[in-house]
Amino acid sequence: MSDVVRFGLVGYGLFGKHHARAIEKAAGGELVGICAPSEESRAAAKGDFGGVGVYGDYREMLEKEKLDVVNVVAPNWLHEEIGCAALEAGCHVLMEKPMALSLAGCDRMIGLAEEKGLVLAVNFELRMSSLWGSVKGLIDEGVIGEPEYVLIELSRFAYRQGSGGWRYDAGRVGSWILEEPIHFFDLARWYMEGGGNPVGVTGRASGGEGEGLCDHFSAVVDFEKGGYGVISQTLGAFGHHVSAKVGGSEGMIAGSWSAADARSDESVYRLTYGKNEKVVEVDLGEKRVGELVELDEHVAWMVGCVRGEREVVCDGEDGKWAVRLCLAAEESVRGVGERVGFEK
Ligand SMILES: NC(=O)c1ccc[n+]([C@@H]2O[C@H](COP(=O)([O-])OP(=O)(O)OC[C@H]3O[C@@H](n4cnc5c(N)ncnc54)[C@H](OP(=O)(O)O)[C@@H]3O)[C@@H](O)[C@H]2O)c1
Repeated sequence: MSDVVRFGLVGYGLFGKHHARAIEKAAGGELVGICAPSEESRAAAKGDFGGVGVYGDYREMLEKEKLDVVNVVAPNWLHEEIGCAALEAGCHVLMEKPMALSLAGCDRMIGLAEEKGLVLAVNFELRMSSLWGSVKGLIDEGVIGEPEYVLIELSRFAYRQGSGGWRYDAGRVGSWILEEPIHFFDLARWYMEGGGNPVGVTGRASGGEGEGLCDHFSAVVDFEKGGYGVISQTLGAFGHHVSAKVGGSEGMIAGSWSAADARSDESVYRLTYGKNEKVVEVDLGEKRVGELVELDEHVAWMVGCVRGEREVVCDGEDGKWAVRLCLAAEESVRGVGERVGFEK
């Protein structure tokens, strides 16, 4: 590999444009190809990045460009197909979530990456956040003793349609559980790491567009050593407000983030921990908290991963665990709250 890490981007919609900007900013990274099927998006890519190869078909980009990394930022139902094609072509891959819509799809991708010795990373960018990452740091420092309980809650405005309306079509989005709560399943599993693996999920959902596309969703995840996590989301609200509380044997950590939109840089956030009368306000430093800051960091991190200088933050197994929890929650919702257990 040359010194410069050459990126190809598949998908130039709302989030793909942010990936493109992040690649351009990443030290040692270069954006060399962009793929989007519509003429409109290709014209936008050419206007925004003159000199970059722009393609209507990702296979042509894989064939013609010499790529080190492919960022997959297309609609969910295409992730497995495009991720596997990129790995088959010998490229490292940064997948948007969900990495695939089935466990077999996750396994296919993990198997290919292993067989070819390639980096496979999943963009759970909240793990890069100084807020949500500091929650994990505090847990690891032991400020609340053993974590026994986690509650992660999001209230926000309705989803955008996405290109061609894919987000409102269960066949193409997978489900609204796989679309956004998947981030919180990943965080809950990360925070509860000391409590063993998840062993079961119970889910409930209501409202919205019907099966798979419910506005309101909650799930309880049971962990091996007896702890549990609650994930809850409503799309029937306004703005974008996330909170996480982690309770342990010695106290609680509480983080919150609020803005008009997840991508806003005018957010308000706070991190505290304590027990009874003792409350500590955590100084989160200069780095802003928000998914675009964290996306920039994750893309820059990917440069280090493919050079062998850094460990992958969320690998294929993390991506698969998050998909497994979402699929179990979907199954439980269909069974009106019947618990879905996993084999150990
Ligand atoms: N990690 C996060 O926090 C986060 C945040 C937002 C989104 N996402 C994920 O990012 C992905 C994209 O979301 P988005 O909001 O950017 O969606 P979007 O605005 O609908 O953009 C989707 C893009 O994919 C392109 N596309 C469609 N079919 C394609 C194909 N066959 N080959 C190549 N490209 C194709 C579309 O092309 P046209 O424009 O030509 O139609 C469009 O440019 C989704 O998986 C979503 O879950 C993650």
